[in-house]
Amino acid sequence: AATAVLGTGLLAVALLGGGAAIAADPITLKLGYSLPPTSHYGVGADAFAKALAEKTDGKYVVEMFPSNALGGEREMIEGAQFGTIDLVVTSTGPVGNFVPDTLTFDIPFLFRDYAHARGVLDGEIGQAVLDKFPERGLIALAWGENGFRHLTNNKVAVTEPEDVKGLKIRTMQNDVHMRAFTTLGALPTPMAFPEVFTAMQQGTIDGQENPIPVIVSGNFAQVQKYLSLTGHVYSPALFIMAPSRWDELSDAEKTAFKEAAKIGADAMRKQVETFEADGIAKLEAAGMTVVEHPDSARFAEALAPAYAEYEKRFDPELIKRIRAWQ
Ligand code: PAF
Repeated sequence: AATAVLGTGLLAVALLGGGAAIAADPITLKLGYSLPPTSHYGVGADAFAKALAEKTDGKYVVEMFPSNALGGEREMIEGAQFGTIDLVVTSTGPVGNFVPDTLTFDIPFLFRDYAHARGVLDGEIGQAVLDKFPERGLIALAWGENGFRHLTNNKVAVTEPEDVKGLKIRTMQNDVHMRAFTTLGALPTPMAFPEVFTAMQQGTIDGQENPIPVIVSGNFAQVQKYLSLTGHVYSPALFIMAPSRWDELSDAEKTAFKEAAKIGADAMRKQVETFEADGIAKLEAAGMTVVEHPDSARFAEALAPAYAEYEKRFDPELIKRIRAWQ
């Protein structure tokens, strides 16, 4: 954050910790996200803020509201629509309720690995979806990353799709994900993230699914016994902006915001990789039983009825193009 603003002269600037200048009369923007400041979202948001200050000669200062300080992801996105929050870093979890085109990317086992997901999102397919946001009252600056999601629970070491039957699993407020868990015979319970830890602690739900960095930073090992590395779905993240703020920007500033968001997204992706490198060992050390190789092929097979539905609901040609991406 800015530490000082010097003088009243037009060119007076103060230096940020990261070396970026702050203009005499900076505009402060509120940025919210659901994870702690040290998370991949925090690292991405900080890199964005620093790049934005550099690119706009300190005209914009970003004030961070991590750890759900402005509410859950759905609430924050609504805030951006209303213009009460300027910027949000969010997973796509609830975004499909606002921009249905993002839901295609939430299909389980759509992406093979990180290179595949990042390549599709950064290419013309991903751009075409970013371009849909304005007609839904939102601006999307760039794709970021939450990571491949894995399943945790308190009842059973999940290796086969049958193990999931009857488990009460918290999902995001995302009906593509919910459909997948229903198809597997689980009882999906959509819930905003701020409620999840307590729900696991109190046993209202048996489990949840999230990427390794979230499971580590959320201290889920305190309330969950089993982790299965299902990698059942890739969870993209987004830098979202309030249209009311966006419309005030010059063309050059719009470019600066997009470029800064891309820098933030790259930093976020790097941080996901760093956290994944030692996250599983940390969770084991914290007492979780880890199933390293659940039968992914059988999970994908068991999802056949859900896939048939997704193909009707979304553009089957687009799904084919995404799958075929090399
Ligand atoms: O599970 C969720 O809701 C999301 O993955 C989270 C943890 C809020 C990060 O975007």
